[in-house]
Amino acid sequence: MTQDELKQAVARAALNYVVDGAIIGVGTGSTANFFIDELGKIKQRIKGAVASSEATAARLKSHGIAVFDLNEITHMPVYIDGADEIDASGAMIKGGGGALTREKIVASVAEKFICIADGSKLVEVMGTFPLPVEVIPMAQAVVSRALKAMGATPILRLKEGVPYVTDNGCFIIDAAGLRITQPAILEQQINDLPGVVTNGLFARKGANVCLLGMADGVKTMTF
Ligand code: 5RP
Repeated sequence: MTQDELKQAVARAALNYVVDGAIIGVGTGSTANFFIDELGKIKQRIKGAVASSEATAARLKSHGIAVFDLNEITHMPVYIDGADEIDASGAMIKGGGGALTREKIVASVAEKFICIADGSKLVEVMGTFPLPVEVIPMAQAVVSRALKAMGATPILRLKEGVPYVTDNGCFIIDAAGLRITQPAILEQQINDLPGVVTNGLFARKGANVCLLGMADGVKTMTF
């Protein structure tokens, strides 16, 4: 099976977690896109969705799924999204697609985070994938120095030669070379740096379920 087929398989399996009549939180990225396409097929079962990025909102709307503003929502049973890395405790690195802050905000409202990922995303120790850190642009240099002091190699994310700008008008520093043995502690430490909007560690509130696409089928991990 190709990586895309594995992503498609977990996207389909995630439909089992969709609650009838509810508003569902939807993530960003290629796996989330497969999920949105599946959700489009059963859209009559849900009230609508809250999107974690402009790109996701556009894809949801293209399927005729109602997109709600998070400020209108008080109850969200599930949030479904991919991950760049996930460990055996359900802690994740996210933000490869640059949507980490809105993903963390939407996920914080949901009762359950359902992670959908191909098997390559499961790791023993996180950090091989550079940790995305969203920063207020004026804080880019000072946050980069602080990340360096923590042992990372900070790399300002670029797009077509200029800094990549998030949906929130901010920059992303990718912190490479970390070996993340205490993700919840590192998540807090980085978030405490002035100028950091948030970082891509989802450890203090990680996944509740991970649907992992493997060659022999979808494996369900619960945390
Ligand atoms: C976007 C994310 C994505 O969930 C993460 O990058 C995984 O992406 P993909 O499903 O394309 O592998 O956090 O900000």
